[in-house]
Amino acid sequence: MILITGGAGFIGSNFVLEWLRDSGNSAVNLDKLTYAGNLENLALLEGNARHVFVRGDICDRALVEQLLAKHQPGAIVHFAAESHVDRSIHGPADFVRTNIEGTFILLEAARAYWDGLKKSAQDNFRFLHVSTDEVYGSLGPNDPPFAETKAYEPNSPYAASKAAADHLVRAYHQTYGLPVLITNCSNNYGPFQFPEKLIPLVMANALAGKPLPIYGDGMNVRDWLYVSDHCSALRTVLARGRVGETYNIGGSNELPNLILVKMICALLDELHPKSPVTPHKKLITFVKDRPGHDRRYAMDSSKIRRELGWKPAESFESGIRKTVQWYLEHAKWVANVQSGAYRDWIALNYGKR
Ligand code: NAD
Ligand code: TYD
Repeated sequence: MILITGGAGFIGSNFVLEWLRDSGNSAVNLDKLTYAGNLENLALLEGNARHVFVRGDICDRALVEQLLAKHQPGAIVHFAAESHVDRSIHGPADFVRTNIEGTFILLEAARAYWDGLKKSAQDNFRFLHVSTDEVYGSLGPNDPPFAETKAYEPNSPYAASKAAADHLVRAYHQTYGLPVLITNCSNNYGPFQFPEKLIPLVMANALAGKPLPIYGDGMNVRDWLYVSDHCSALRTVLARGRVGETYNIGGSNELPNLILVKMICALLDELHPKSPVTPHKKLITFVKDRPGHDRRYAMDSSKIRRELGWKPAESFESGIRKTVQWYLEHAKWVANVQSGAYRDWIALNYGKR
């Protein structure tokens, strides 16, 4: 039994689905169901007794304590966060609350629970904190990829809040001995990603014949990893990671945004030839840049590859093809998440650019 936080979001739901599919284990899934949480992502688990969904806030210490006492998990896998950089620019307060305060409350509850376990259960317990490459800052074109030893230089309120959380997690190991693991991963893509992030936004807009907004000159570089490969890395770290260590996870798939969006357009032309807007690349529109926009991310994941034997299963070409296909086949899912609140966000972020 593990306790997962944020398991109705993009990566969390992929992780829960794979965890229950591939292991005989159970999961308690604590999620507040913010705009980014979606129970439709977990529809396959309906009636599955090994999945217990609890709608709640990681900042609710009494609830977290009660869940730990009742379900006695052997690990906590902590995904819950506010995760979108642009939203953190418009409204950083929620990021400080969930990402910093929420992680702190979870750590406090975990420490109290862990203190009360028998020695053998204490030794086996893990607190896996899921973090991002964005804590490391921005790379120049010729800089080496981020290694675990890179100093933190967060540039957005999102990155700063995740950096603060990472530091707290580390401190709970150094100070209290809590058996923590930290992972920092590059940009994920795949099924169930909320269409505020670049790839699903481009898919949703392209299918609706709307402009595909590219910030700045489109030459910002991200290192893309298919979400299942992130999930397999997390399972690997949970099973074999050394307590107190940080593991960087990346796909070594660096792409400038403009090239990436053109690749998606070409795949759409091929897989959706009846679309009224082919070639889709004609929808590409340059818009005002994101303030403080990090130029380049790239991950050095040699530590997890060498020490734990992890490697991604998906190439970028196979992963992006699967992803485009998935969004084409799940137009209803996309339509359902584009609520009134979603439309307000699009007006706020893109209306002013
Ligand atoms: P997401 O925004 O899709 O999902 C976040 C989930 O957390 C949602 O289900 C939401 O309802 C839940 N949540 C938010 N606040 C909560 C609270 N106070 N209490 C309980 N639940 C709450 O995010 P994601 O893209 O799946 O990212 C998951 C984690 O992985 C985050 O910690 C993020 O920093 C990290 N990460 C994401 C990426 C990426 O490319 N998406 C890359 C590296 C790391
Ligand atoms: P995003 O998916 O928001 O992830 P992150 O900011 O965490 O890397 O953005 C990925 C890249 O795409 C980033 O360089 C910003 C850029 N981008 C656009 O050009 N247009 C958009 O509409 C969005 C949402 C992002």
